Amino acid sequence: MIILSIETSCDETAVSLLKFDGQAGETTVTILGNALFSQVDIHKEYGGVFPMLAKREHCRNLIPLMKKALEEAGFENTKKQETITKQDTQLEKIKQILERESGLLEHFLAYIPTIEKPPIDTIAVTHGPGLEPALWVGVGFAKALSKLWDIPLIPTNHMEGHVAVALLEEKRPEKKSQPTFTIKPVSYPALAILISGGHTELVLIPESGKYDLIGQTRDDALGEAFDKVARILGLPYPGGPEISKLAEKDRNVRPNGTISEYILPRPMIHSKDFDFSFSGIKTAVLYMAQKIPTMTPDIQMQIARQFEDAVTEVIISKTKKALEHTGAQTLILGGGVVANTYIRKSFGILADTLPGLKLQIPSISHTTDNAIMIGIAGYHRYIAGVRGDTTTLRAEGNLRLSK
Ligand code: KG4
Ligand code: ZN
Repeated sequence: MIILSIETSCDETAVSLLKFDGQAGETTVTILGNALFSQVDIHKEYGGVFPMLAKREHCRNLIPLMKKALEEAGFENTKKQETITKQDTQLEKIKQILERESGLLEHFLAYIPTIEKPPIDTIAVTHGPGLEPALWVGVGFAKALSKLWDIPLIPTNHMEGHVAVALLEEKRPEKKSQPTFTIKPVSYPALAILISGGHTELVLIPESGKYDLIGQTRDDALGEAFDKVARILGLPYPGGPEISKLAEKDRNVRPNGTISEYILPRPMIHSKDFDFSFSGIKTAVLYMAQKIPTMTPDIQMQIARQFEDAVTEVIISKTKKALEHTGAQTLILGGGVVANTYIRKSFGILADTLPGLKLQIPSISHTTDNAIMIGIAGYHRYIAGVRGDTTTLRAEGNLRLSK
């Protein structure tokens, strides 16, 4: 089967076309088309993501990305001119669905009715969690396509996408140029640590599709803390990759064990629960920075490294405790912060000390938001019989993974 997937929950607009072959347990996924536009450069000026600006950009970019993904898959077949005008009643419904997504409706009407329906079986779309105005763009687009092409709609949870994509294992490239993956079977119970710009969660997965939230941040998300600390240090948005680069540099200059004058706290590391708190460490960096007369590149480097060391120690320690407590057999990492080299390495070291634990880390290109993850999560939901309604499906900014 072929799934069209759409992601617009934050500042990435993404569309992908995935082909699934085989049965449960040995499914192969082929990426037929994949198009993504990151709005990072647009939000950079403001030092964070502005929801209405994100919405405007999604409206502007969805159709060009859709066209690109269809072309890549070889699905873009232009209709004969005389058949284009015959869909008037359906187009009226589409105007209603997209009436609030200014810009998208015009692009939609100028392109979609001019192409033949592609061989897509279903549409998976992120309906939460995320920025509601941004989510509505993808949801509206998916509903409109589902109506026009008469194919089912699968509402998909963004965080489930981050979990699902960690289970992809790339097959050895054959002569074919399209990337192909298998979905690795999971030994349950599994534990997921989800670390992104909006979330920091420890989620127990007792069986496929079931999620129990056992711990979460009480204030800032980990990615948010990276971004805020970067800002304090005068680094550009998004700060995660910037901090990571500087911290790596510092590790090359000052070996482990070097005494630092910039030691930071490890908030909640000894608390009995599985919760986190990152706002205190951000404040500690702020006070530290205020006392420094001139922020030199060398001090930036040292603080970046101390921050990365501190937060990594906390998440590793809490994850270890949660693994012991739950008896989880698989550890799944998900979310944009998993792009961090030091954090990836540290989880590798943790897994080496726990015999029998399977560690699932997504490839770096799948860690930050993309539509492939939504397609994979959508596939599992499709198999489980989940279907969305083109009239009632809504964007849900605070959508939860656990019931
Ligand atoms: O999952 P994601 O793309 O979006 C959300 O769903 O939030 O995560 C984005 C977050 C940002 O806070 C960004 O700074 C962080 O992931 N991030 C990183 C790195 N790359 C991205 N944080 C630390 N190290 C990185 N290399
Ligand atoms: Zn995300």
